[in-house]
Amino acid sequence: MLYQPTEKHEKLRDEIREFAEAEVKPITFQLDQNNEFPMDQVQAMKRKGWFGLPFSEEYGGQGEDILSYAIAVEELSRVDGGTGVILSAHTSLGTWPIYAFGTEEQKKKYLPDLLKGEKLAAFGLTEPNAGSDAGGTQTTAVDKGDHYLLNGNKIFITNAPKADTYVVFASTDPSKGTRGISAFIVEKGMEGFEFGEHYDKLGIRSSSTAELKFNNVKVPKENLLGELGQGFKIAMATLDGGRIGIAAQALGIAQGAYEAALEYAKEREQFGAPLSQLQAIQFKLADMATKLRAARMLVYSAAELKEAHEPYSKEAAMAKMYASDVCLEIVNDALQIFGGNGYLKGMDVERAYRDAKITTIYEGTNEIQRVVIASNILGKPKKKEAKPAQQKKQPLTGERKNKIFAEGSAQEKVDQLVDALKGEDIDLEEVIDVETPIAEAKKVVAAGKGIGEKENMKLIEDLADALGAAIGSSRPVAEVMQYVPLNRFVGLSGQKFGGDLYVACGISGAMQHLRGIQDADVIVAINNDPNAPIFENADYGIVGDIEEIAPLLTEALKK
Ligand code: CAA
Repeated sequence: MLYQPTEKHEKLRDEIREFAEAEVKPITFQLDQNNEFPMDQVQAMKRKGWFGLPFSEEYGGQGEDILSYAIAVEELSRVDGGTGVILSAHTSLGTWPIYAFGTEEQKKKYLPDLLKGEKLAAFGLTEPNAGSDAGGTQTTAVDKGDHYLLNGNKIFITNAPKADTYVVFASTDPSKGTRGISAFIVEKGMEGFEFGEHYDKLGIRSSSTAELKFNNVKVPKENLLGELGQGFKIAMATLDGGRIGIAAQALGIAQGAYEAALEYAKEREQFGAPLSQLQAIQFKLADMATKLRAARMLVYSAAELKEAHEPYSKEAAMAKMYASDVCLEIVNDALQIFGGNGYLKGMDVERAYRDAKITTIYEGTNEIQRVVIASNILGKPKKKEAKPAQQKKQPLTGERKNKIFAEGSAQEKVDQLVDALKGEDIDLEEVIDVETPIAEAKKVVAAGKGIGEKENMKLIEDLADALGAAIGSSRPVAEVMQYVPLNRFVGLSGQKFGGDLYVACGISGAMQHLRGIQDADVIVAINNDPNAPIFENADYGIVGDIEEIAPLLTEALKK
């Protein structure tokens, strides 16, 4: 094996580089600033056939090899890491499992659109309690005869909500641990399948990332992918290939930063000569070039092994781990060469510096890659006992009462909640100023994105008034929607609440928010999504629409 691209590969590289330079580069700053998905560029990539590169022509693919796909991700990422991962998540995470494990009917139904790029694909594995420990999935799929009933939440899903087709992992038999997990093809638009907020990320901001919410989604029996209980292995095998894509992404980000720094070092003069004549800078460039070459060999060799149907799990993990580790070092050195100029917004190295970090985290942290490599070398460590997939996890806010009022009319649910609150040691009569600092407040009514339009803040204010409480919010409501000042958002990076009563309205319960209310005596949640994580972290809750519940609750409390 030479790990050597052919002339055809280099021609493809030239074509993609030309496209990325001409079509993506001019708008990278805008995409990054606005957290914007490059829809026009994705349409152009679709027309070029790049969404079906390493798949057989029989289903509408380009019939190229895995190395071609890796080069495509590398070249897009050289200009914009976010655009690179759109292609990577579509190809190796969302489409490949259908190609590799689908029945002929499934392949004929889904692949032509996916390989032509008419539809975008994504992969739903990660959950709040199943990140690195992917086997801890709590999403369930219950056999109901002609369909499976899917319930649960997936977080950090690349390409959501833009994608149309999702490969989703859910437990079909919790007693069997990872062997009770199955894979399903879930389509956007299925009743009960909704999306959470588009995350505001440090980097790769042109790539769309959102939560998937499944509330009694009826997934037809024929959408089971692979055998029942084979899902975890499908996920692991898919990630083996996905890791080549992320390795290629890291390689591309590093290559782009290196080239920019090299050019800058030749032009920028200090002490009467270009920076490139200073040995301190020369040594940096030499190290960067060497790391790039080593990373490229690892990435291309893993791609070649996969193409040759040789075992490649260990080599893909090595490529992902090494390429992303050195990517961080290379973007750091590149920014250092740019000095203060590189630290400014709008500079490509500044964006590359931020884009790079995710490559050591997603598709398995680099710690998990080391676990995979070590277990390939040493064999799998013995496990103490089979782990049930759905073992009850302690909620982030500690032990809570979890009395959720979901049945009956809105008025009945409100009455039940008010009765319950009367039994708690909370002074409902005491009035505190709405602007009391969160950390000092005894009672807080907080708004999440689920309240909808800004005019609905009036509902929150009225409720806070009736309760004599201060007003708080989730981070997006303060930072993105700007409904309240920044000093009123509650969470890990915001204010911590440790008072008597916290009423979360339209707050789904992301980990960052829950970490800010761990010390609250009583937590109440109002949300229309019965699967929202806030409920398992609350003492009391009402499943219902805030626009209906808040006025009734305000009236009941006034009485
Ligand atoms: N291929 C096929 N099967 C595999 C496999 C592989 N590469 N690796 C493991 N398996 C099988 C094992 O043989 C075992 O089978 P049996 O039940 O028959 O024995 C089964 O899967 C369970 O294996 P383990 O006992 O090793 O599983 P584990 O619970 O210890 O987990 C792990 C292993 C490597 C830590 C795994 O959980 C893991 O990879 N975690 C990281 C998850 C991850 O990468 N998440 C990324 C999410 S996607 C993403 O990030 C996308 C994005 O945004 C772009």
